[in-house]
Amino acid sequence: MLTRIPKTELEKGMYVEAVECSQTVFGKRRFVLKSDSDFNAILNSPADFVLINTAIGSTGGAAAGVTSGAGKPLTPAEAKSAFGRSTGIVKAELVTMLSDGVLDMEKFSPVIEEITEADDAQFALMHEVSRLRTKDESTFQHSLSVGMLMGRLGDAVGLDKETVELLVLSGLLHDVGKLAIPSKILLKDGPLSPAERKVIRTHPRRGHTILKTYDNIPDLALEICLHHHELLDGTGYPMQLSGSEISLLVRISTVCDVFDALTSSRVYKRGWATVDALNWLFERDSQFDRKLVLRLGGLVDA
Ligand SMILES: [Fe+2]
Repeated sequence: MLTRIPKTELEKGMYVEAVECSQTVFGKRRFVLKSDSDFNAILNSPADFVLINTAIGSTGGAAAGVTSGAGKPLTPAEAKSAFGRSTGIVKAELVTMLSDGVLDMEKFSPVIEEITEADDAQFALMHEVSRLRTKDESTFQHSLSVGMLMGRLGDAVGLDKETVELLVLSGLLHDVGKLAIPSKILLKDGPLSPAERKVIRTHPRRGHTILKTYDNIPDLALEICLHHHELLDGTGYPMQLSGSEISLLVRISTVCDVFDALTSSRVYKRGWATVDALNWLFERDSQFDRKLVLRLGGLVDA
């Protein structure tokens, strides 16, 4: 819900949609207010009012980022709330993209920021929360979770901050093609028939086609959307790429995607234990990059 408040009532953790300012002194829009510099910039601007979104950020009091208050660790309830809020943003943007043909990449910024700034303990809590999926939200929760894992793994293998942020964004967008799959197949309880599986397997190409219609989608997000189901031995899809044809960044996406799918719980299926999922991936080194699986193990099994 959009609420207009005097700037003097502004608190950290609020989601700022816009600062009412006739002069372009404060150009930043749509972000979770976290830093002292942004806070002071708004207070010192000529603006009198700020438009906040209470459906996304806090309404006052607690901070809405991955930390509560002044750097205190997240409680499980706060982790759940942060994950739910980020899922809401991913859902809103992907649905808007499909229905209205509009994608405002800026709106993913608070999610990417939240993920890339999380410390180990915060990541672990968010990951735990992400394992519990609701049926209708599962694609969005999976997208967010894969984005979290990809960013984390990219950071662990020494990629620069810009690439890590791109990996997070690519994770958020990688399964957008699933939203074009009929719900009765996508949300079906229980095993899929061969024909249904064939339909599901069209989602990378469908997603790639959707994303290509926008001129502001980074090449990496397009590549990961199309190839996140390719396997090193050439048995993946849609193009049966193999070995060195699959880049390191795409390999990161395949490992994280499968790990998240195995460990997540749904109403009809219990998620695997982390160690079982890691072992399963590790044993399939003809399909998944073993070095990346080991790195992932160091992150999620700590
Ligand atoms: Fe997928």
